[in-house]
Amino acid sequence: MGTIIDGKALSAVVKDEVRDAVPVLEKKYGRKPCLCVIIVGEDPASQVYVRNKVKAAAYTGMDSKLIELPVSTREDALLRKIAELNADAAVDGILVQLPLPKQIDEEKIIDAIAPEKDVDGFHPSNVAGLWLGKKCTVPCTPAGIMRLIDSTGIELKGKSAVVVGRSNIVGKPVAKLLLDRHATVTIAHSRTADLGAVTRGADVLVSAVGKAGLIKRDMIKPGAVVIDVGMNRDAEGKLCGDVDFEGCKDKASWITPVPGGVGPMTIAMLMKNTLLCFEQRENNK
Ligand code: GUN
Repeated sequence: MGTIIDGKALSAVVKDEVRDAVPVLEKKYGRKPCLCVIIVGEDPASQVYVRNKVKAAAYTGMDSKLIELPVSTREDALLRKIAELNADAAVDGILVQLPLPKQIDEEKIIDAIAPEKDVDGFHPSNVAGLWLGKKCTVPCTPAGIMRLIDSTGIELKGKSAVVVGRSNIVGKPVAKLLLDRHATVTIAHSRTADLGAVTRGADVLVSAVGKAGLIKRDMIKPGAVVIDVGMNRDAEGKLCGDVDFEGCKDKASWITPVPGGVGPMTIAMLMKNTLLCFEQRENNK
């Protein structure tokens, strides 16, 4: 038991799908999709993520733009920049890397991004679209998780899925996507009384908490599909997830590693979302 789901390999497949589509779209519409990424400040983790996003965009052949703003950037200056990009017909996707410096209200920034250019799927109208089952941009990490699960070939209908974590970026949207596929979904979180009792019932377990070693071997059901969204540093500073990978790998049927699981898929799905926003905008012209 215990097959590793290779997120790096699957992300390469997704990025190649985008790379193949870009010239076709360029021929059809006379221009390429364009992703614009904004980073405010110098948070080292955010800088790595943003660099990887721009690198992935370059790989697919789409256009991209990186806007680097100082940590002291005022909220009104960032809002003006977003308004400028909203009005720029050549820009299809706007991504503001989170977290933002404390003087900037993240909610205000997310609300200001034109929903049709919101490649993160964080704007309230996209969130509403997801929960109401309307056409919308699905957040990248949850979309990547679904693609990882689908790559195993398991049927979600009727299965018990447990999501640990209730963030707007991962926990809540992935729970809705699992529900859409007819899984019976439970959302557990930091106040869940007996987490192990809940996770042991999971045919599919998604952990998106950000706590190294949270999910131990005795907390998973034999044969479970385990998706680890955690991005933590262990005592030696090594990147690790929420799941005790060594302890769980031969008890799970399928399991994602960290690194090389969900992380690369988030970036690949961002490329997909940029294409979808591009096509949607072109078709609405
Ligand atoms: N920070 C951590 N994850 C994300 C993400 O998916 N999108 C943005 N914009 N910022 C993030």
